[in-house]
Amino acid sequence: MAEEFKPKSIIVTGGAGFIGSNFVHWVVDRQPGVHVTVLDKLTYAGNLDNLAGIPDDRMDFVRGDICDAGLLEKLFPTADAVVHFAAESHNDNSIADPEPFVRTNVEGTYQLLEAARRHGTRFHHISTDEVYGDLALDDPARFTEETPYRPSSPYSSTKASSDLLVRAWHRTYGVAATISNCSNNYGPRQHVEKFIPRQITNILSGIRPKLYGDGKNVRDWIHTEDHSSAVWAVLTRGVPGETYLVGADGERSNIDVLRAILAAMGRGPDDFDWVRDRPGHDRRYAIDASKLRRELGWEPAHTDFAEGLSDTIAWYRDNVEWWQGAKEATEAKYAAQGQ
Ligand code: NAD
Ligand code: DAU
Repeated sequence: MAEEFKPKSIIVTGGAGFIGSNFVHWVVDRQPGVHVTVLDKLTYAGNLDNLAGIPDDRMDFVRGDICDAGLLEKLFPTADAVVHFAAESHNDNSIADPEPFVRTNVEGTYQLLEAARRHGTRFHHISTDEVYGDLALDDPARFTEETPYRPSSPYSSTKASSDLLVRAWHRTYGVAATISNCSNNYGPRQHVEKFIPRQITNILSGIRPKLYGDGKNVRDWIHTEDHSSAVWAVLTRGVPGETYLVGADGERSNIDVLRAILAAMGRGPDDFDWVRDRPGHDRRYAIDASKLRRELGWEPAHTDFAEGLSDTIAWYRDNVEWWQGAKEATEAKYAAQGQ
């Protein structure tokens, strides 16, 4: 474990999105001496309501693009660290139109690294387990920090590219950077395009849930609050130059997750439609997070998936106005793709 890094002022890119906003709330609630500057472009996935209730003296919000080097030049001088969540994050969108993924995920990360290099700013890069490709359903292996990169989709290949930039900027220019690669997050404020919120809000809207392919694909679910605590552990106690995998032993097939949602919402186990599979659909993700647990002492707090799912369903039931606006356009996009 490195000597503890104690930032007083951090820039959080993508802080108005799902995981970024949960992280900002986590920091404001648990790290009293830390000021947050959220830098977010407010794309279709960003929502200022996600930051409601945060006191003005704890957070500034800046609407802007991480590709804007001039803007970064204004924000970096007063920050001790940048925690970089901003990205185009949805695989299906990347298949339909990869261009914004290359721009934000690759060029945006490059611009942030250059700003960190100029200002000597600590850098924590949020990445995904998808950079490692996929595993077979019957393979006992899980991803570790040593697994070779083998991304499948336009989204995951741009995330892999951004990870490689971070590694190079650390080795070549000495930028004090860490990387975390996390598995699938769930919890409040996730966009309705993603699997779990899509199915919950379909049921709440009287639309049948949609399952891709044969439904046997496996994802390794982690509650987003546990991702937040892991990111804080890596930012403050991680070793620059190191990568840490984040996961909470939550492997589940899509059909099992969907049936858990159906049961929790009082529907029958077959009350859903099978739809066209995602091209290049990764079969299984599985994370071995023992380095994070062993070296940084991290433990997940949300170990009961049924309870986390039931809280998430309750959140969407109680916050219809938060998701209703995006629902129609999202479903129209899926319908056009046969999904
Ligand atoms: P999200 O799509 O909900 O939010 C992304 C945020 O980034 C939005 O607020 C959006 O407005 C902002 N943004 C997009 N382009 C921008 C730009 N050019 N400049 C500034 N802001 C911009 O994404 P998420 O699911 O919260 O994912 C956040 C990060 O975590 C991403 O880097 C993603 O790759 C990573 N990740 C996600 C998961 C998951 O399960 N969702 C798992 C592991 C890693
Ligand atoms: O593993 C981490 C990744 O998890 C993150 O890097 C991504 O940003 C995040 O979006 C997520 O990617 P996935 O592609 O795994 O998540 P998604 O919610 O899109 O889909 C989860 C699984 O559910 C996947 O196997 C596809 C399937 N699916 C998805 C949708 C939207 C369905 O069967 N039906 C659906 O309607």
